[in-house]
Order: sequence, then structure tokens, then C-alpha cells
Amino acid sequence: MSTSRGGGSALHAHGRGSHIIAREMWLQFGVGAAIFLLVIGLLLWIVLRRRDASAEEVADEHRPLLWLVLGGIVLPLVVLSALFGWSVHDVVALAHPKTKEAAIVDVTAHRWWWEIGYPEEHVKTANEVVVPVGEAVRFRVRAADVIHTFWVPELGRKIDAFPHEWNTIWLEADRPGRYLGVCAEFCGLQHAHMQFVVRAVSPAAYRAWLRAAAQPAHAPATAQERRGLAIFQTTSCAYCHTIAGTRAAGWVGPDLTHMASRPRLAAGTLPNTPAALRRWIAAPQEVKPGNLMPPAHLPADDLNALVAYLEALR
Ligand code: CUA
Repeated sequence: MSTSRGGGSALHAHGRGSHIIAREMWLQFGVGAAIFLLVIGLLLWIVLRRRDASAEEVADEHRPLLWLVLGGIVLPLVVLSALFGWSVHDVVALAHPKTKEAAIVDVTAHRWWWEIGYPEEHVKTANEVVVPVGEAVRFRVRAADVIHTFWVPELGRKIDAFPHEWNTIWLEADRPGRYLGVCAEFCGLQHAHMQFVVRAVSPAAYRAWLRAAAQPAHAPATAQERRGLAIFQTTSCAYCHTIAGTRAAGWVGPDLTHMASRPRLAAGTLPNTPAALRRWIAAPQEVKPGNLMPPAHLPADDLNALVAYLEALR
């Protein structure tokens, strides 16, 4: 997804957790590389220096027992103990936020999208999380169906999403930006089409966003939008989706109260444009086979009205 700052790579660390992980990774790589070079260097030294010597001379001169004890026992013991200690230190650091938590976000993984809730502010959204920069956010993660894994590589570690059980991690973005999130546990046909975006903004912009997100949906302003809302409420749409302020209160699919403000449709699968939305509503099984959304068999005029209404839900 082009929205992400570092392309969704864990090597582009933009959060406290991902910095810890990247540092750990480079440390392990650096120590491993140094030992590899040491062994290769010793090997070359032996081959080049002692080609002309007899086996007895080499054995006498180099005290094999000392080499064995130092190189085979002491060195691995020291290096592996140090790495283990450092890893334990990092795992403990990852498990706790450094600052007081600024927000709680509830994440429920579905096949194949992410339900996002801000329980204290009574805000619901989908496939997009807005967080304040530089502040710790507690994510409570669970699944609605099968096991998924919640992962924002640029911000921190993964956490499994289990049905009927909350798992917790803290993420903290250290600069503003959009960070790609993915499902990191194979969960069926559309596992790869289960993306979300974490948008890190200034604390003031975050609070402004929360206030806007807590508002009911935009009331239809034109005849076409009114027709769109009527279609939404009288067809199968309303069984599965919620639009706050209308009669639609389904909970099977994503909350659409402010869907036009989100950058992508269908968990990252499509851009959020009228053309893509029309295609998604008319033939969701062609776009994302296996997902739970049934096709809407609507005349072209009705479909256009529905799309006009939904794209006005900022
Ligand atoms: Cu959800 Cu893979």
C-alpha cells in the first residue's frame, strides 16, 4: 500500500517497539557476522601459516586443549549468555509502555477486515486506526472467527488475535505518518487482503479526529443522497453494517458511519473512489472471493444513488 511511510518494513522503525526490535536484530546480526569472520579468519590463518609444518609441530605449538576450552566453551558461553540477557531485557521492554498510556484501542480481527473501537470515546471504525504521536496506545486485540495476527511492522511487534480472548500490546509512533498494518497469520482465502492503516497525528489532531468520529453520520443533503440512504436501509446493506444516526445497525461488516474519510475499501483491497465502491457493491465476490458480503443486485440508478450517499459519509 503506497500510504505507508516505510513500505511496511520492520527495518523502517518509526515506533518505540520497532526501534527495540530493529536494534535487537542488528545486534544479533552483528555478533553473528563478527563470529563468522573470526572463524573464517582463523581458518585462513591455519591454512596459510602452517601448510609446511607437520601435524606434530602444529599440535605441540598451539596447545589444542586451550583452544578447545576458550573457543569451544568459554567464548560461546559468554557470547550466548550476553545475547540471551540482552534479548530478555528487550522482551521485557517491549511488554511495557514507557509513558503513561494515552488511549485504548480495541481491535477485533474478522475474515477479512479489522474492526476498530475506541471504548472510552464510543467510536467505531474499520481498517484505520488514528493514534497520537509520541504517546503510548494500548491495543486490545481479539478475533471474531479464526486466529489472526495483528502487526504494524514499522511500529512494533506482532500480537495474535484469538477468538473470545483479549491480548494486549502497546504501540507508540515516534513521528507522524501512515503505517501499514497487516494480518500475519494465515487465516483463509483473503489473508493477504486484510490490511489496515495506522495514522499517527499530533495529539491535538488526534483529539479533533476523535470528536469528529464520535458524531453521527452526515445527513443526506441532496435528493440523490436521500435516495441512497433509503436504499441502504431497505436492502440487505443494513443487516450487516452500521451507520450511526440511521436505522442501519448491523454488526457483521465494517461500521460505515464515516466511511468516505477512510483511504481504502475492503481492507486495503481497493482505493476509496466512487468507481471502486460501485464495483465493490455490485460484485464483491469478484473483487475479494470468499468474503461475507453478498452482491447487491441494484439497477444502475439505485447503485449510483447508494454510492453518492456513501461517498458523502465523511
Ligand atoms: Cu487474518 Cu491472516
